[in-house]
Amino acid sequence: ANQPAETLPLHGLHVLVTAGPTQEPLDPVRYLTNHSTGKMGYAIAEQARDMGADVTLVSGPVTLSAPRGIDTVHVTTAQQMFNAVQEHFTQADLTIMAAAVGDFRPIEQSSEKIKKNGRVNIDLRLTSNPDILAWAGAHKTAGQTLCGFAMETQDLESNAAKKLTSKHCSMLVANNLNTPGAGFAVDTNVVTVLKPGETTDEPIIEHWNKMSKQELAERILTELAALRNTESA
Ligand code: CTP
Ligand code: CA
Repeated sequence: ANQPAETLPLHGLHVLVTAGPTQEPLDPVRYLTNHSTGKMGYAIAEQARDMGADVTLVSGPVTLSAPRGIDTVHVTTAQQMFNAVQEHFTQADLTIMAAAVGDFRPIEQSSEKIKKNGRVNIDLRLTSNPDILAWAGAHKTAGQTLCGFAMETQDLESNAAKKLTSKHCSMLVANNLNTPGAGFAVDTNVVTVLKPGETTDEPIIEHWNKMSKQELAERILTELAALRNTESA
């Protein structure tokens, strides 16, 4: 446990992690969000710290407490998460985006509480949020390693492969919400890991066994550290 700092596997590296859901306000009392609890992203941030990295965690609203020894930036909306990532991305050697970012937000936010006024149906107009991972993939420079996540409910491999390629990730960690032991609010995960193929356009696909989110965090970071060495070799 008391290993000299300079021998730790991520010593000297800056790691940026996104975690948790976003909240997109509709009016002063309501918002759109999702079931993310932040457990996976927080486990990665804490593990990166324990492996010797200098960690920045950009977190949406969660009930987890800010981890010790980690620079935690609290945000609410996808746009705020995007701003925080843009501010920290250039310094990051490894970036892992585990946040469940709201894809859409209400096109307008009512300054007053929306009243029902006897209506049976109402229409909500939504507009797309910036894709933070895609932005990072488009702006990364040599020496930056980028890891995305993907949550799917069907066609996991083909959907995840598209995300790996279109967002220019070094690695993508995909899970199926319907697999027992995977998904929101549980302490374990079951993932499929995709990396760009070395010679073909077909990605390299690995199926990892069910493990705790802590153990998975360590496996992901070890894999990224190894990728970093091959990418820079
Ligand atoms: N992501 C992001 N910004 C967004 C949406 C997603 O940074 N506005 C990131 C997530 O943090 C995750 C990856 O992109 O690392 C994939 O998220 P996911 O929701 O699975 O995929 P999407 O590209 O949003 O596509 P869809 O939801 O339609 O499947
Ligand atoms: Ca999405």
